[in-house]
Amino acid sequence: MTSTSLKGKVMDVTGGATGIGAAIAKSAALAGANVIVDYVVNPQQAAQFAHNLNEWDRRNGSVEAFDADVSKVADVQALVAEAVRRYGRLDVFVNNAGIETRHSLLETTESDYDKVMSINLKGAFFGAQAAARQFIAQGTPGVIINISSVHEDWPMPGNAVYCLSKGGMRMLTRNVAVELGKKGIRVVGVAPGAVNTPINTDTVADPDKVAKLNEAIPLGAIATPEQIGDVVAFLASDAASYLTATTVVVDGGLMQASLGL
Ligand SMILES: NC(=O)c1ccc[n+]([C@@H]2O[C@H](COP(=O)([O-])OP(=O)(O)OC[C@H]3O[C@@H](n4cnc5c(N)ncnc54)[C@H](O)[C@@H]3O)[C@@H](O)[C@H]2O)c1
Repeated sequence: MTSTSLKGKVMDVTGGATGIGAAIAKSAALAGANVIVDYVVNPQQAAQFAHNLNEWDRRNGSVEAFDADVSKVADVQALVAEAVRRYGRLDVFVNNAGIETRHSLLETTESDYDKVMSINLKGAFFGAQAAARQFIAQGTPGVIINISSVHEDWPMPGNAVYCLSKGGMRMLTRNVAVELGKKGIRVVGVAPGAVNTPINTDTVADPDKVAKLNEAIPLGAIATPEQIGDVVAFLASDAASYLTATTVVVDGGLMQASLGL
């Protein structure tokens, strides 16, 4: 079997100071990667990130932080440049940063729309572009992983722009994978279901909502961030070398179960 090791690989993870992004950084570092996580200046996030670093076993890889706002193209390009400055190369770029406003179509303002789309979709688009340009300049294969959501396919009434951004990410994955395949670049989507992270603070704080969700999930529980991070580390490795232009759904069976309702 081809190794799932990421030894010697260099990975950027956007929004990697919290939740799923932090778990991706952790799994990848444990698999041997040198990881740069991007975070938006926020003292609480930075403190949590420093705490995580102390807890993680970094014998094999390493994790460093770099501040970049993915809604700004120059910042995304700087994140790629930072990997090259620090480690001389980039092998994996994970578009993970994302937000939601939980407003319906009727309630959504222009500013809500622009904010969600510029972080979730514009950020991912130009992240993919900056990473692909670097892979091509290096003359090496590379992997772009887009953290979308089951809501790339599954409507969520009351969260219209979020679903729109994730639907766009679904097509970004497919289109860019087809454009870049012959250059040895893989592009893969990962669609988590419900995960216990800061984006879900309100849901996780409500025992009734948690019980309802756990009941609806065939595997019986909301995911931990690590259950997503481990899948992403595998997809980044050479063991997934024939996987591209598709989305791996990591939802404990939730979306399929919903089809039977
Ligand atoms: N938690 C879930 O249930 C779930 C389910 C499906 C998909 N997702 C997706 O997973 C990804 C990570 O979310 P999470 O659940 O870990 O929540 P989270 O809130 O912990 O993570 C989002 C991260 O994005 C960062 N971010 C926000 N704006 C940014 C900007 N302008 N530039 C750079 N970074 C920015 C935040 O600082 C944060 O670290 C998101 O794209 C989200 O849509 C989450």
